[in-house]
Amino acid sequence: MGMGMGMMGISSSDLLLINDIQTAVILEVQAFNYYQRLMALTANEQQRQIITSIQRDEMRHYHWFTMMLRMMGAQQPLIPPGELPVNFVEGTREAIRLELEAAVFYQTIANRATAHFIRMHTTRAIYDEQRHATLLQNILISL
Ligand SMILES: [Fe+2]
Ligand SMILES: [Fe+2]
Repeated sequence: MGMGMGMMGISSSDLLLINDIQTAVILEVQAFNYYQRLMALTANEQQRQIITSIQRDEMRHYHWFTMMLRMMGAQQPLIPPGELPVNFVEGTREAIRLELEAAVFYQTIANRATAHFIRMHTTRAIYDEQRHATLLQNILISL
């Protein structure tokens, strides 16, 4: 797609979309790293399994969003280090907030996009992030 297409052929709304998807790639990597640290803060096997399953989803989302950038001929972003949790309960609470924030942000991508691939996979990511928030909420309730 977009063979030889320079930035000249890209509309300003495409640029906004590309910028948002680059942010999504950053959020997915930071989420993966966040959960890696969160997992180190609990010895509970069930909690660790839940966090591992969430990480698998974030990895999948990362692949989808990087694929979208490649399809649009856009650059992959540099990934700045994100915040990391230092306490399991506080960290889980913060993770819920980040998941819900990501879901709201991804809605703007789904709304802006016209390409089927982008709309479909972003919608799937929104559903996953909302499910992650619920899984984490259940961890807090079970403590
Ligand atoms: Fe994600
Ligand atoms: Fe998530």
